[in-house]
Amino acid sequence: MIDSNKTPAPARPLRLLVIGGGGREHALVWKLARSPRAEKIFCAPGNPGIAQLAECVDTSSSNVPALLDFARGAAIDLTIVGPEAPLVAGIVDSFAAAGLAIVGPSRAAAIIEGSKAFAKAFMRRHGIPTADFEIFDRFAEARDHLNQSALPIVIKADGLAAGKGAVVAHTRAEALAAAEAMLERRLFGEAGSRIVIEKFMPGEEVSVLCLSDGARIITLPAAQDHKAIFDQDRGPNTGGMGAYAPAPVMTPALLAQVEAQILRPAIAGLAQEGRAYRGVLYAGLMITPEGPKVVEFNCRLGDPEAQVILPLLELDLVELLWQIACGALPEAVVTSPPNGWALAVVMASAGYPGEYQTGKVISALTPGEDEQVLVFHSGTTKDAAGRLVTGGGRVLAVTGLGRTFEQARQRAYAAVGRISFEGAHYRTDIGAKALRHLPAA
Ligand code: GLY
Repeated sequence: MIDSNKTPAPARPLRLLVIGGGGREHALVWKLARSPRAEKIFCAPGNPGIAQLAECVDTSSSNVPALLDFARGAAIDLTIVGPEAPLVAGIVDSFAAAGLAIVGPSRAAAIIEGSKAFAKAFMRRHGIPTADFEIFDRFAEARDHLNQSALPIVIKADGLAAGKGAVVAHTRAEALAAAEAMLERRLFGEAGSRIVIEKFMPGEEVSVLCLSDGARIITLPAAQDHKAIFDQDRGPNTGGMGAYAPAPVMTPALLAQVEAQILRPAIAGLAQEGRAYRGVLYAGLMITPEGPKVVEFNCRLGDPEAQVILPLLELDLVELLWQIACGALPEAVVTSPPNGWALAVVMASAGYPGEYQTGKVISALTPGEDEQVLVFHSGTTKDAAGRLVTGGGRVLAVTGLGRTFEQARQRAYAAVGRISFEGAHYRTDIGAKALRHLPAA
């Protein structure tokens, strides 16, 4: 078993298994494939975009016994987990117990995303800035609390709810309906059997992610997601309709504050509580008038944040992930600030995040040859005739790269304009918030 003995990576190139099949995993596979330390990459289950770079394995990301069998049979050196559900369910513990190297937090550490109630109480214990909150498991008590609360107010299901478990209520009726749906009608099943009610935080949201081996951290370029389905942040929330990095709202001074007050105390606090955190820690932040505060922690790369952060990293991800899996990051990893910009626009199926149809033929997907545009697949599949068709709500993300923000933005939108499928929807204002923080051209 590789662990505290800080096993060095084999000198030969590694056989890698990426678990997941969305845009985040496509970006991960793309980045890993650029490393001379990668011999062969497998992805379970992968998608048609990933299949251009890796061998896809027809196994669900939740089928841990089958993934273990595959990793043993295919002599996988290192497994990298993309989505939160298998992490929260304990996939890392199962692989580690079988003596297989894997990157991601253990079940005990992934609880930072798996339970909002745990995460909030953890932040309170360790003095990590976040909104004031209360936890309820009975509707009558939640109702009494909501009847006295200032508006707007935020109601969150405790467990994983596929990104749909948080409601920002602007009226008391909305707040009561959300709490009732979760606690009484079990809208999210067991995940909503406990809720967090927290004060609404005004401000600008930004995602700051770091890699950690349980002790040290490497902070990644800050990114800004666009959660609402329509321009100007209107309409219901989605998994994310676009992102860009580095987000200029996160100035160097603010980033230093985030590291000192949020990331380092979180990693140290988890270690202190016997939950050593190895993997990607994602801090969803609100930049409030009192400074940065945590909206949520996630135990993985963001999607679509990964599609803009990973292309900007100038480091060998394979070597680094091995060191993280072993708890052996060097004391001081030198990371240069990103030398450019990345901006991703998500193209979604008509109707998403509500009901949508699939099976729409996707055309003109090939970007230019110059590698300044990357297309990361999320909800794509092949039909019986072998055509690439839509297979999910978020279909793909188009990432533009550039020396300037404007160049990245123009490249992304020019490529989006060439891709088509029936009912395709995308936001036209990805990155508009960055302009508020950048000097006028
Ligand atoms: N883009 C938000 C998330 O990955 O949770």
